[in-house]
Amino acid sequence: MRRSPFVRKRRLVAALLGAPMAPEPGTQAVGGADSASRPSTLGGSEDQSALVVEHLSKRFGERVAFDDVSFEVGYGEVFGFLGPNGAGKTTTVRTLGTLVAPTSGSATVAGIPLSAENGPAIRARISIMPESPGLYRRLTVTENLECFAGLYELDDVGGRIERALRAVNLLDRAGDPCGSLSKGLRQRVALARALLNDPTVLFLDEPTSGLDPVATHDVHELIVSLRERGVTIFLTTHRLEEAERLCHRVAILNTTLRLVGRPDELRERLFNQALEVRVRGSLADPGVVFGDLPGVDGWQESSSGGYELAVSDPGIAAPAVARALVSAGADILSLAESRHSLEDVYLQLIDEDVEAKRR
Ligand SMILES: Nc1ncnc2c1ncn2[C@@H]1O[C@H](COP(=O)(O)OP(=O)(O)OP(=O)(O)O)[C@@H](O)[C@H]1O
Ligand SMILES: [Mg+2]
Repeated sequence: MRRSPFVRKRRLVAALLGAPMAPEPGTQAVGGADSASRPSTLGGSEDQSALVVEHLSKRFGERVAFDDVSFEVGYGEVFGFLGPNGAGKTTTVRTLGTLVAPTSGSATVAGIPLSAENGPAIRARISIMPESPGLYRRLTVTENLECFAGLYELDDVGGRIERALRAVNLLDRAGDPCGSLSKGLRQRVALARALLNDPTVLFLDEPTSGLDPVATHDVHELIVSLRERGVTIFLTTHRLEEAERLCHRVAILNTTLRLVGRPDELRERLFNQALEVRVRGSLADPGVVFGDLPGVDGWQESSSGGYELAVSDPGIAAPAVARALVSAGADILSLAESRHSLEDVYLQLIDEDVEAKRR
C-alpha cells in the first residue's frame, strides 16, 4: 500500500485543478521572436497562452480517450503530460495537433481556434514528434528531412535542415541512411524533422521511450536547449524524473485531468510536511518523546525503521524533536524533512483511481 498517512484530503486535488499557472517567460522561440507573437488573422485571441484547452473530450465510439480536459500552457513553457497507458495522452496530442477532431469542447493552439478549417494554419505553427520516428530507412538523414520539408512546403530548405541538424547535433551524420542509425540517433532525426518548420508549439510524444540512459540523457539535453531558446513544449512521458527535470509544470491525466501544477507545488499540496527521524536502536516510548512537542501533529514508525512525524512547521518542530530525543537519551542518526517525489504524487493519484473504480 503506497498511500501515506500524511496524505491530505482529495479536496486538494480539486483545489489544484484550479491552481493558477506559473510559466517562466521564454526568451526567444526557435522560429524567431516573432513566431510566438505573430498576430492571428484566424479569429484567435493573441493572448499569453500557447495552448488553451477548455472542456475538451474525445471518444472513439463508446470508448472515451479523454474527457472534459481543461488547462493552459504559456508561451515558452515546458508542460509535462503524465499518465498511465491508455490515459489519453497521445490522443490529446493528436487532437491538439489537428490529426483527429475532438468530440466536444474547444481549444486554441498557438493563438488559433481548433477547428477543421484552421487545421492547415495550426499545423504550420506546430510540430509533433510521434512516439515512433517514422523515417524512411533507405533515405539519408538529409533526404528524409528534404522530403518532410517538401510536405510542409517550406522555403530555404537547405538552411532549415542545417539549422535543425545543428540543433540536434547530427550534422556529421547528414549523409547516412536512417536505417543505419541507432534508435537514439533516429530519435534525434525525428526531433530535427519536428524543428524544420520552426514550431511555436512542439509536441513531443514520449521522446525517450525505449532509449538507453545515454541516449535519454542526450535527448534531455536537446530539450533543455530548446527550453532555453523559449520553445513551448508539450511533453508526454512515463518517466517521472524526466518530467521533474524538464518541465515547468506537469499535468496528470487518467482519462480526466487529475492535477496540474509545478512538481514542488504538487508535492507540497498533496502531502503534509513531515520529518524523518532515525535513532540508534529504538525509542522505549516514542509516544512520550514526540507526544507533546510544538509543531508536531503526529508520529508513526516508518518502514525504514525510524519514525515519521507529521509537522505543521518543520522550522519549529525539528529543534524541538532534537531536544526531546537528546533528553530521552537517544542517539540521533539523522533528522531531516521528508522529500516526496513526483512519483509519490503520481502513484497516489493512480492508486486513488484504481480504488475509486473498485468501489
Ligand atoms: N483510433 C482509435 N480508435 C479507437 N480507440 C482509440 C484510438 N486511439 C486511441 N484509442 C483509445 O483511447 C484510449 C487512449 O489512448 P491513447 O493512445 O491516447 O493513450 P496514451 O495515454 O497515449 O497511452 P500510452 O501511454 O500507452 O501511449 C485508449 O483506450 C485507446 O485504446
Ligand atoms: Mg501514447
